[in-house]
Amino acid sequence: MTDDRQAAWAAAGRAAASQVQDGMRVGLGTGRAAAQGIRALGARVREGMRVTGVPTSPASAALARAQGIRLGRLDGPLDLAFDGADAIDPRGLTVKGAGGAMVRERAVAQAADRFLVLVDGPKLVVSLDEWGVLPLAVVPFCARAVARDLADLGPVVRPRRSDDGLVLCDLHVPAGSDWEAVAARARARPGVVDHGLFVLDRRDVLVGRADGTAAAADPA
Ligand code: A5P
Repeated sequence: MTDDRQAAWAAAGRAAASQVQDGMRVGLGTGRAAAQGIRALGARVREGMRVTGVPTSPASAALARAQGIRLGRLDGPLDLAFDGADAIDPRGLTVKGAGGAMVRERAVAQAADRFLVLVDGPKLVVSLDEWGVLPLAVVPFCARAVARDLADLGPVVRPRRSDDGLVLCDLHVPAGSDWEAVAARARARPGVVDHGLFVLDRRDVLVGRADGTAAAADPA
């Protein structure tokens, strides 16, 4: 990954961490941009801020712990959460889950009063067709049947399961598809726990730049 992209994600991470206030319970996403947010939050904790982080993966838990962030469980509402994304369209339709953590990520996002998403410019797409992939998390017993039922979407099962032992299956969504309809169809198959399609308010999308600045995505 280029230094420019790392710098942009770090800028978005700092912007998210700057919105955390003392005493907050904060959902911690998974992936490269979320990791930058966790690092930036860790810096604030080392300056004296008290927060409880609720991580969406063992990797994020380990990073947060190393940063000195106290960890908690998803046992109630969160004040704020931040996470990355793979692609976001002008309406805020968003694909997540390249890292396979979307089940926990949606649970944390829904528990949070505010859900901030950290990206850089290349992740803002004109259409999700530019990304083309919709990940599913599937109960292992059902994985073959789901792949058969959705065969027209070119399902590819990943070799590695999710942190919750679910099969991760990438659908290849044909250009021009109604992504929400595809996601609803997939979700309706028995054994599909969740998919990676989210609907965001673009005002909550923080776009980092390589020059170290970050700003909310322009509205559609
Ligand atoms: C994890 O399952 C994903 O939803 C990530 O948040 C998403 O793939 C973005 O990851 P990066 O910030 O590493 O690109």
